[in-house]
Amino acid sequence: MHTRHHEFDPASRAIAADGWCVLPTLMTARQTHDLAGECSTMHDEQLLTSAHVGRDRDHSALRGDRTCWFEPLALSAPQGAFAGRIEQLRIGLNRALMLGLVDSESHYAMYPPGAGYARHLDRLRHSDARVLSAVFYLNDAWQESDGGALRLHLADGSYRDVYPHAGTLLLFLSAQFEHEVLPATRQRMSIACWMRQRDIG
Ligand code: OGA
Ligand code: MN
Repeated sequence: MHTRHHEFDPASRAIAADGWCVLPTLMTARQTHDLAGECSTMHDEQLLTSAHVGRDRDHSALRGDRTCWFEPLALSAPQGAFAGRIEQLRIGLNRALMLGLVDSESHYAMYPPGAGYARHLDRLRHSDARVLSAVFYLNDAWQESDGGALRLHLADGSYRDVYPHAGTLLLFLSAQFEHEVLPATRQRMSIACWMRQRDIG
């Protein structure tokens, strides 16, 4: 019997063992640059809106980011490249881990200087669809002294800080890891993505 090796086997093994991992090779530098440019332009054109406005209640104390959902039927070229790679990752994770991931949802997020996101879980109260959180970072030349880490809280009470360097993808199980975004001294851009199972809740 042949053993086939797949691009996302190391990530699958890390998710199985630890429930989280960092993947630095999802997109090329050019693709990441194009996503950052689009996010920045959309922010300048005021197309990103406060996450706490609209159907959510007043979450302004909880999160300070501005977001814009990707429209699956109207993806830009940079978004299409991202969505294509996320599909390959979704299929690879399903193959290795049988997670039953059927689709994903993604949004751009921009945190102004000083903004953060208080400690939370990504699993929503009314739905257990979100299985895997994937946060992709868009910030060139990020320094740890800029702040802005995503602080991932582990089961043993310790934490890991992941800095939002352009090209870094952080993956973690949505139901298991509380996390927070620490404030930064500069603007901080990301794509937050959730891979979903059929909602049986
Ligand atoms: C979220 C989130 C983290 C980040 O949108 O739920 O935790 O680093 N985002 O942008
Ligand atoms: Mn989150």
